[in-house]
Amino acid sequence: MSEHMVPNFPPVQASLWLTLCGRALDNRLPQPILGDEMADELVRKLDYDYRKLNIPASSAIYIAHRARKLDEIARGFFAKHPNAVGLDLGAGLDSRALRIAPPPGADWYDVDFPDVIEARRRLLPATATPHDIAADLTDPAWLADLPSDRPVVTVADGLIAFLAEEEMISLVNRIIDHFPSGEIAFNGYSTFAVWAQKRFAGASTIKDVTKFPGFDDPRTPERWNPKLKLAREILCTREPEVARFPLGLRLANRLSALSEGLSRRGNVVLVYRF
Ligand SMILES: C[S@@+](CC[C@H](N)C(=O)[O-])C[C@H]1O[C@@H](n2cnc3c(N)ncnc32)[C@H](O)[C@@H]1O
Repeated sequence: MSEHMVPNFPPVQASLWLTLCGRALDNRLPQPILGDEMADELVRKLDYDYRKLNIPASSAIYIAHRARKLDEIARGFFAKHPNAVGLDLGAGLDSRALRIAPPPGADWYDVDFPDVIEARRRLLPATATPHDIAADLTDPAWLADLPSDRPVVTVADGLIAFLAEEEMISLVNRIIDHFPSGEIAFNGYSTFAVWAQKRFAGASTIKDVTKFPGFDDPRTPERWNPKLKLAREILCTREPEVARFPLGLRLANRLSALSEGLSRRGNVVLVYRF
């Protein structure tokens, strides 16, 4: 397949276009929140028609913002554990390893379905994917060959909406059973966010494949495994990057930031430790 041919994915995999294009659009803003040049370059190279996704500017900024928070979490973990294993679950066409530059003693793995991994190999530079794993994350076998004697930092950006709650719980349990210790971080989905994702025009491509019910109490995952403890709840409305949002969005975020409940309905990144 040519380097410029747009892969034709089934709906769950196709969700990666929303996040990739969201980061590319953020990069084209006068003050990008993430500044993901590789996403921008890839969307241009493929001449991907992002307009058909109807991504509002606010969504592009939120996608970039949560990616930035997950990058910070991974970087922070590697600063403390330079020999750690990093996992990006449902990596899509994201080149997170290029942004965070894991230390030489660390190992970074991008996991996604085989057709997505094939597209990564074709479309992204090899340095974007230090290691890849072509697997369905609900299949218990994919973890077997990973080192099990080093701490792990796991990020899942935009993934969990596509897993049923039991699938997410099993996945988290398998990671906790495999590694001695670590962090698991993902963008949260409140029950309101799931409701909105199933109706909102910008998300029309993913509404039929959204399976996760969402949760409103950040401590809910502590019930998935007794070792799992909430380490941090990042309410993005209260993060410093909001100062760089365009005026209207900045004001809306400043107002939401006054209420924990409202902030929890929006862009949230959750970090758990085990
Ligand atoms: C919204 S996209 C996000 C992609 C990437 N994290 C990003 O931020 O651009 C969700 C990704 O999760 C992957 N995914 C969903 N369910 C999966 C599963 N059961 N196994 C492996 N990958 C899965 C999809 O293929 C897709 O690439």
